[in-house]
Amino acid sequence: MAAMSFEYEAEIIPGLESFAIGELRQLQPDAPSEIRQTRAGFVRFRLAADESVDQSLRSVIAVYRIHNFAVPRPKSLLGHEHFMRLLGILRAAARSFTSSPQTMGIAAAGSQTAVMHRLRQATSRALGLQLAADGKGELFLRLARPAAGAGWEVLVRTSASPISKRDYRAFDVPGALNATVAYAMTQIARRAERQIVLNLCSGTSTILIEHAGTKPNDTLIAVDNCRDMIRIGRQNARRAQRSHRINQLLADAVSAPLAAGSADIIYADLPFGHHLGSHADNVALYPALLREAGRLAKADAIFVLLSHEIRLMARAISASSWRVCSETTINLSGLHPRLFVLRKNSARI
Ligand SMILES: C[S@@+](CC[C@H](N)C(=O)[O-])C[C@H]1O[C@@H](n2cnc3c(N)ncnc32)[C@H](O)[C@@H]1O
Repeated sequence: MAAMSFEYEAEIIPGLESFAIGELRQLQPDAPSEIRQTRAGFVRFRLAADESVDQSLRSVIAVYRIHNFAVPRPKSLLGHEHFMRLLGILRAAARSFTSSPQTMGIAAAGSQTAVMHRLRQATSRALGLQLAADGKGELFLRLARPAAGAGWEVLVRTSASPISKRDYRAFDVPGALNATVAYAMTQIARRAERQIVLNLCSGTSTILIEHAGTKPNDTLIAVDNCRDMIRIGRQNARRAQRSHRINQLLADAVSAPLAAGSADIIYADLPFGHHLGSHADNVALYPALLREAGRLAKADAIFVLLSHEIRLMARAISASSWRVCSETTINLSGLHPRLFVLRKNSARI
C-alpha cells in the first residue's frame, strides 16, 4: 500500500524557483516527491505523513500545507462540518509552532468581501486569536481555487513567521537584501572550499552571512563605505554566530585596500537608486566598481551581482574586463532586478 503523504506549496521569489527546487531535493529528509513549479513563485511537493517541513530551508519565503475542501465557495467553510475541520487543522498547525501564536490572518482573492470578513471573525473568535493588523499575523492561511478540479484549497503556513525572515536581523534596514536572494547568489558561486570571498557594497552583510552558512572554510571580506551599514553588518553577523568569519572593512569599494588578484568570488548587491543612492551616483559607481572588481579578482574568479539598473549595467559590463555568463530576472516586491553572473574576459572556461 502506498504510504500516506501530504501536499505542500513553497512560496519563492519569482525567478529563483530552480534554487528552491534544488534545495528541496537536497535538504528535505528522504527527498520530497513530485516537486514541480505550478506558477511563477510557487513550487509544490509532497512529504510522507510522518515528515515535517524543514524550517531551515534558505531559498523559500514560506511553506504552506495544502488542505482540500469539497466546498463550492468560501462561504461554505462556515458550515458546521467544514468549520470544525478547519479549526482542527488550524489548532494542529498552531501546536507545531515553537510558541503559541497570538495573531492570525486569512488571505484570499476578494479578501474584502462580507463572507471573508465573517470567516475571519468566526475563526479568530473560535481560536482566541487576534486578527493581525498586517492581514497575516502568525497563524496565516490562504484560500485559493485549485488550478484543476472543483472545491477550494486552504493553504496553512507551516511557520509562525516567514522562513525568509532571518533571526539574525534585529531590525529592518532599507535596502537590505531579501535573504533568500542572498542565499541564491551564494549558490550560483558554488566552488571548492577555502576560497577568498569578497562582498563589495556589502551593506548589512546578508550575502556573506548566507555564504558562511554553507561554506565554513572560506575567507569572507565585507566592504562598505557606510559606517552604520558596517556596524549593523557586524551586529547581524554576531547574531548569526558568524562574526568570527566575516572581516568588515569600512572602505570605498571602488578603491578597496586589498591586494590585486586576490578574490575567487565577488558579490555585489548594488544600490538600486530607490531606497539607496541615485541614478546619477550609479552612473559613476557601476563602471568604477566593475573596474575595481576586475583588479581584485583572480583570473578565473566569478562575480555575482544584483542590479536594478539593467541598461546602465549592460553598458558598464560591455566596457569592462568582464563578460556575462548568465542573467536572471527576479521579481522583488514589484521591482525586477537582474542577477548577473560574470567571468573575466581573459578567463579560460
Ligand atoms: C543595496 S545596498 C546592499 C545591501 C546588502 N546586500 C544588505 O543585504 O544589507 C548597497 C550598499 O552599497 C553601499 N555603497 C554605495 N556606494 C559605495 C561605495 N562607493 N563603496 C562602498 N560601499 C558603497 C551602500 O552603503 C549600501 O550599503
